[in-house]
Amino acid sequence: MKPTARSVVVVLLGAATGQQDWSQYVQPFIGSEGSIPGTGAGGGDIWVGASLPFGSVKFGIDTTAANASQAVLNGGWTPDGNVTAITGLHVHGTGGAPKYGVGGPQMPLTSIKSPINLLDNSTYSQPRIGHDEASVGYFKSQLQNGVTIELSGSRHVGHMEYSFPASTEKHILVDVSHYLPAPPGGPSDQKYVGGEIHLQPGGKLYTGFGTYIGGWNIGPPMTVYFCGNFDSPADKYSTCRGYNTDPVSRYQTYSNGPIPQATFNLVGLDEVSGPMNDRIGALFSWNSSASSSKIGSKVGISWISEAKACAFINAEVPHWDLNTTRQMAVDEWNRDVFSKIQVPTGPEANETKLQMLYSNLYQTHLMPSDRIGENPLWETEEPWFDDFYTLCTVSLYHLLQPSYYEGMIRALIEMWRRQGYMPDGRSGNYNGYTQGGSNADNVLADAYVKRLRGGINWTDGYAAMVKDAEVLPFNNFDPSDMTGSTMQGRGALEDWLKLGWLAEDVDTRCVSRTVEYSANDFALSQVARGEAGDPTDAAKYLNRSAGWQYIWLSNVTSLGFSGFMAPRLSNGMFNTTDYDPLGCGSCEGLSITNEGVPWEYSFTVAHDMQSLIAKMGGPETFEKRLDKMFEPNAAQQSLGVNGAGITTIFNIGNEPDFATPYLYNYINKSWKSVQNSREQANLHFNTSYNGLPGNSDAGALNSWLVWQMIGLFPVVTQPVYLLHSPWFESISISVGLNATLRITAPGLSDTNFWVQGVKLNGEQWDRNWFNHDELMVNGGTLEFAVGDEPKQWETGPLPPSPGHVDLGDLGF
Ligand SMILES: *[C@@H]1O[C@H](CO)[C@@H](O)[C@H](O)[C@H]1NC(C)=O
Ligand SMILES: *[C@@H]1O[C@H](CO)[C@@H](O)[C@H](O)[C@H]1NC(C)=O
Ligand SMILES: *[C@@H]1O[C@H](CO)[C@@H](O)[C@H](O)[C@H]1NC(C)=O
Ligand SMILES: *[C@@H]1O[C@H](CO)[C@@H](O)[C@H](O)[C@H]1NC(C)=O
Ligand SMILES: *[C@@H]1O[C@H](CO)[C@@H](O)[C@H](O)[C@H]1NC(C)=O
Ligand SMILES: *[C@@H]1O[C@H](CO)[C@@H](O)[C@H](O)[C@H]1NC(C)=O
Ligand SMILES: *[C@@H]1O[C@H](CO)[C@@H](O)[C@H](O)[C@H]1NC(C)=O
Ligand SMILES: *[C@@H]1O[C@H](CO)[C@@H](O)[C@H](O)[C@H]1NC(C)=O
Ligand SMILES: *[C@@H]1O[C@H](CO)[C@@H](O)[C@H](O)[C@H]1NC(C)=O
Ligand SMILES: *[C@@H]1O[C@H](CO)[C@@H](O)[C@H](O)[C@H]1NC(C)=O
Ligand SMILES: *[C@@H]1O[C@H](CO)[C@@H](O)[C@H](O)[C@H]1NC(C)=O
Ligand SMILES: *[C@@H]1O[C@H](CO)[C@@H](O)[C@H](O)[C@H]1NC(C)=O
Repeated sequence: MKPTARSVVVVLLGAATGQQDWSQYVQPFIGSEGSIPGTGAGGGDIWVGASLPFGSVKFGIDTTAANASQAVLNGGWTPDGNVTAITGLHVHGTGGAPKYGVGGPQMPLTSIKSPINLLDNSTYSQPRIGHDEASVGYFKSQLQNGVTIELSGSRHVGHMEYSFPASTEKHILVDVSHYLPAPPGGPSDQKYVGGEIHLQPGGKLYTGFGTYIGGWNIGPPMTVYFCGNFDSPADKYSTCRGYNTDPVSRYQTYSNGPIPQATFNLVGLDEVSGPMNDRIGALFSWNSSASSSKIGSKVGISWISEAKACAFINAEVPHWDLNTTRQMAVDEWNRDVFSKIQVPTGPEANETKLQMLYSNLYQTHLMPSDRIGENPLWETEEPWFDDFYTLCTVSLYHLLQPSYYEGMIRALIEMWRRQGYMPDGRSGNYNGYTQGGSNADNVLADAYVKRLRGGINWTDGYAAMVKDAEVLPFNNFDPSDMTGSTMQGRGALEDWLKLGWLAEDVDTRCVSRTVEYSANDFALSQVARGEAGDPTDAAKYLNRSAGWQYIWLSNVTSLGFSGFMAPRLSNGMFNTTDYDPLGCGSCEGLSITNEGVPWEYSFTVAHDMQSLIAKMGGPETFEKRLDKMFEPNAAQQSLGVNGAGITTIFNIGNEPDFATPYLYNYINKSWKSVQNSREQANLHFNTSYNGLPGNSDAGALNSWLVWQMIGLFPVVTQPVYLLHSPWFESISISVGLNATLRITAPGLSDTNFWVQGVKLNGEQWDRNWFNHDELMVNGGTLEFAVGDEPKQWETGPLPPSPGHVDLGDLGF
């Protein structure tokens, strides 16, 4: 589309009236499959269902999977599994073990006769017919038993509609002991450990709670309250119970023999799991002659009480019209998320690109979960959020979701205030899992240097960061790495303080965590410089942020390049025995690097690119080395599910490399950033079920694509954005509370995208980067002149290296 005044007007009108429906471009199944069609392994591990932005609940189906290894069950939904329940709590696109798959579970059944056993999900689970349907705020699945499930939801409520075949029995099973399982025996598999259910006379209402332990972050018991409501009274209803059979560890179970049948309570309406933490549930049945074959159900979920779960239903979904619930969800997504990035949507627009943009924007807004008013641990006025898995989407939230984002940061600080540490990951109200550094430090610094203030107590915020940097967290003895805390803080802090780097003979992940602790201390230095900090601290942490230089060994060579980070021992000697920067063994908790090889980690020093480029041998060698990252078949390490079949050393499927394609900006060659980042995006992202290169990581991967499509990339912990090239001729981005950034690229096409020059707020711009204040506070304009040949257009200063520390000649 040519950029006429008319097209701009159309975009603006859409925003003003709120009439435009961007939700139509969202394909919720992107990332639902891996490379083998019809299966989930190696895919995005995504959740599919109905939720609001950052919804407290994410209702959807839970399934089995033919091959449940490698996190495929984590989102509940799989392409090939059979349905075991509809539940309210899910995480989205995560690795590791499952969490949740709990919260007011329901399962529609048309028979309960033997061999069906209500306590054995393998006997009542249902294959699906055809492919499920989903759109924003709506999900539909057809079961082999003839029942069609449709669902939608609000912030704390799931709204279901079950259509039974006319002549069959109609039952809905509520199995409080249901959860998403991991392969048994792992340290972080999830377990049901007790609950209660209470039926109200009349057959329309039930309340209760279930308690579950474990899951991804090896969480303590968490209790989830539910309130279920049916639109028509069940003709028969009863609670039921049965032994809690193995494999439940550490709690009382019945451990021998087959799973017994459930026993029904024919006199009372209440069931309590009791000292043997029995499995409990209820069965609701409607006569087959009942006039309507549709049964509507609403389920509220609360972390506080059954009464609150019921109150959510009345407050949020006071009617029985599924379309109304869905329309409210669509309106909220359009208003609060999709309208924040507007591109031309007329007949000439490329629908595939629209789908990529809005689907990935959708998937960046599913986590963390908004639990405002739902903190079960203590009473607080602070906004409350849970389900932080990667903290990678925050720079985007800074622009698009300033009030949610401020709330998230206040919640992180409140966690430190009351529980001692901010999380690196957190779910079910419990910190963990920490893979590398204490990366909430980076989040706070990113917000701070971009001047987010609002209701954030930055004195406390900085104190929370200092805690990470100075106090060793207690060891939670995670079976996957017993050497130090994987729960919070910096588990290898002792060596960091003593040596300035992590030693291979003492510390696991010594190379990757040295890189991350360096970045974390740079983050501290940036907040310490401001009014909440202290200038002495600023110098101290800046110095500490150079720790990565102590493990840079200049005589290590690989693929013709010299100088890599390398394992170093506590006696100061490097350990080069069999050392190959292209490998990392199992690349997990006990390896020298986590989920990436030293080749990749050797590029991740965003705060001091100046030193890094010098250590790599200057701009020309740096460029060749970057080029090598994108060469097909150069990789030697199999990263399994984290590699998504990628053969370059560069791995777009995982966070350590997110910034790498853009590093050409640091040598005045942003055209190569455009070339490589675009090539990677085109190769690995699309609108198919296999359209994500690996797990979405709670939206992290999706946010990478959103930045790619708008032509910017944030340098986290600095108020800096790198320029590359946008995917649309015109883009309006809502920045902060009131402002708009307009990006234009007249004549842009799939062959005509090479930047020839840039104007910022109407002035010719000579840098391939800009400062937050220059466009992201009051908005402004960014005009890209594009052509069909690459051009080295930048002539101004390089992007900054504010963490530059010259340690002189270290002798190695
Ligand atoms: C079925 O339930 C049991 C626990 O009751 C659990 O161990 C098992 O993994 C479940 N299977 C699936 C596929 O959900
Ligand atoms: C689903 O159920 C069908 C029929 O009961 C069974 O053949 C199949 O193995 C099940 N699939 C999975 C992944 O559990
Ligand atoms: C399950 O999938 C993984 C990854 O694709 C594969 O390595 C493994 O062999 C599969 N297991 C089975 C039993 O098919
Ligand atoms: C439903 O069936 C039960 C017996 O199963 C019967 O007692 C009851 O009257 C029936 N109710 C209706 C509305 O048909
Ligand atoms: C709900 O909306 C869909 C399409 O938006 C329509 O086909 C359907 O008839 C509506 N159902 C009701 C009950 O209004
Ligand atoms: C639309 O965009 C997609 C994704 O970038 C691209 O593959 C396709 O060629 C484009 N279609 C047209 C007609 O330009
Ligand atoms: C920040 O919190 C501390 C205590 O945690 C309190 O003393 C201080 O007054 C607060 N500052 C502001 C600006 O609210
Ligand atoms: C910087 O750190 C090194 C050790 O890593 C230490 O020897 C030196 O004194 C520090 N300098 C400052 C100014 O803190
Ligand atoms: C040195 O590296 C080799 C090869 O990885 C390893 O087997 C050995 O344990 C390391 N030595 C020390 C002291 O950690
Ligand atoms: C980048 O360009 C600027 C301005 O022309 C120049 O001062 C600087 O030396 C160049 N740097 C590199 C690494 O090419
Ligand atoms: C946003 O605009 C409104 C109305 O013009 C104004 O009252 C408010 O202060 C502005 N907020 C910010 C953060 O600029
Ligand atoms: C590389 O340097 C380290 C540290 O100075 C030294 O121990 C090692 O022997 C050197 N290796 C080679 C091959 O020169």
